[in-house]
Amino acid sequence: MDIRRPGGPKELPEDDEIEGALYRLFFHPLHKYPGPVLAAVTDWYEVFYNFVLGGEFVAEIERLHKRYGPVVRTGPNTLHFNDRRAFHDIYSNGTTLVKEARFYRAILVHAPESSVAFTDLQQSKNRRSLLAPSFSRQAVMKLEYTIQEKVDQLVALLEKCYRSPESSVMPSIAYRCLTTDVITEYCFANSANTLSDPKFAHPIALETQNLVKRAWIQAYFPFVVHLVARIPQEFILWLFPRFRTFVDVKVRFEQQIDNFIKNPEDLITAEHETIYHHLLLPKDPELRPSRTSLIHEAFVLIGAGSDTVGHACTVGTYFALQGHSIHSRLIEELKEAWPDKDKPLSFTALEKLPYLTAFIKEALRMSIGIMHPLPRVVGEETPEISGQNIPPGTIVGMSQYFMHMNHEIFSDPYTFNPDRWLVENTTEMMLDLVPFSKGPRQCLGLNLAWSELYLILGNIFRKLDLSLVGENVYVCAPILKNAVNFADGTS
Ligand code: HEM
Repeated sequence: MDIRRPGGPKELPEDDEIEGALYRLFFHPLHKYPGPVLAAVTDWYEVFYNFVLGGEFVAEIERLHKRYGPVVRTGPNTLHFNDRRAFHDIYSNGTTLVKEARFYRAILVHAPESSVAFTDLQQSKNRRSLLAPSFSRQAVMKLEYTIQEKVDQLVALLEKCYRSPESSVMPSIAYRCLTTDVITEYCFANSANTLSDPKFAHPIALETQNLVKRAWIQAYFPFVVHLVARIPQEFILWLFPRFRTFVDVKVRFEQQIDNFIKNPEDLITAEHETIYHHLLLPKDPELRPSRTSLIHEAFVLIGAGSDTVGHACTVGTYFALQGHSIHSRLIEELKEAWPDKDKPLSFTALEKLPYLTAFIKEALRMSIGIMHPLPRVVGEETPEISGQNIPPGTIVGMSQYFMHMNHEIFSDPYTFNPDRWLVENTTEMMLDLVPFSKGPRQCLGLNLAWSELYLILGNIFRKLDLSLVGENVYVCAPILKNAVNFADGTS
């Protein structure tokens, strides 16, 4: 984010800060929208809450909506909505809005040529068409065994090494290791194998967590990243040895990509189908991504596919262990459907279980996969948003937090209650359950994510008898701080 430029639908005087501030307050096309004066004048408002106060901006937006109503000016050129119609106008039907380039290029500074970062709709469609065959329901079912193998590995590790409150582990870390191994095996047949470390301290798993933390620096201070890029790599590694993991991962995936480019026949002998079977052999050769773009895509898929699933599993596990009846109903249903736990139960069998399904939907609702509003830019052709004509060039967004916590759709929204999904008609709730976003840029990996959630949570609750130890931390928004522990004994 270029914080000094007033920006906006119309170009403004840049050299005079006072003139710029007055323009934004009294003449800017968004000047009629309510919101704090500071937010109308400067993007530093958002930076303060997210960077200085550590991700507090959505909580602040919630306060602003309570004060100013369903549309709030949260930046000089930005509107945030708290209205379910707006969510569907922006995302579900949002074929005329594009991803906001500055935000996505900044958080994905290491992977600008990737599916998530593309802002141009045609470019995004082209890349999605190449990746889609790897993430279809059919493809996921074909490679289900790769997920099951990793889940079995985690279950065995927990059974062996974490059998008492004295030797317990944070589920967030255990799940991150598992999902990192799943995504690297599934996409590349090149597992990171982080579960080989029984202490769950493999550097790749730890580094995925740091990526998220560093995203704020990248988003608000992109010049730091550009500056670092000019310093010799060896010096950076001497200063920050932890970056070595990042470099090692990059080298590992570069080598694999170079090998497939040089020896395409190796694709035939690969252990199983990978994303390169589609990316490197497209029907239309024009669409074949460059080497750089393949590297960027690998990075993005690892990031998009690991912590997201891991976080939903952590939230589900926490609430199951906290609410005794949820835990016992899960176990009861699983035991009945799956009498012999030594034989695997497939994803398609697990997804037929009503309580497990309700439990997973509730875990997705409460875990709020991506909290920050996903910014979109209004185009010339964009129809009304929530009944209002918004000036082209305006950045709009609505955090999924406001969808999932809407008490008109989800009664008593802050309570984890799988039973809400067991009523006869869930159409309205399903329409507003948006963990994967909606529309042309919705999550590409959602079939894989669902399959992982069923296999991980189904196996964990069928095969292990878990309990909580230590301190549980539960913050105002229903987002978990990682403080739940496993202590298991087999059932
Ligand atoms: C519970 C798990 C997951 C959640 C909650 C989740 C959530 C999301 C959301 C909200 C978006 C939209 C982002 C935006 O508009 O900027 C997204 C996009 C994406 N996700 Fe996921 N995701 C999950 C799992 C996965 C998995 C397993 C993969 C597989 C690699 C994946 C790959 C992607 C990709 C490639 C995109 C970009 C799509 C595009 O921009 O066209 N996600 N995800």
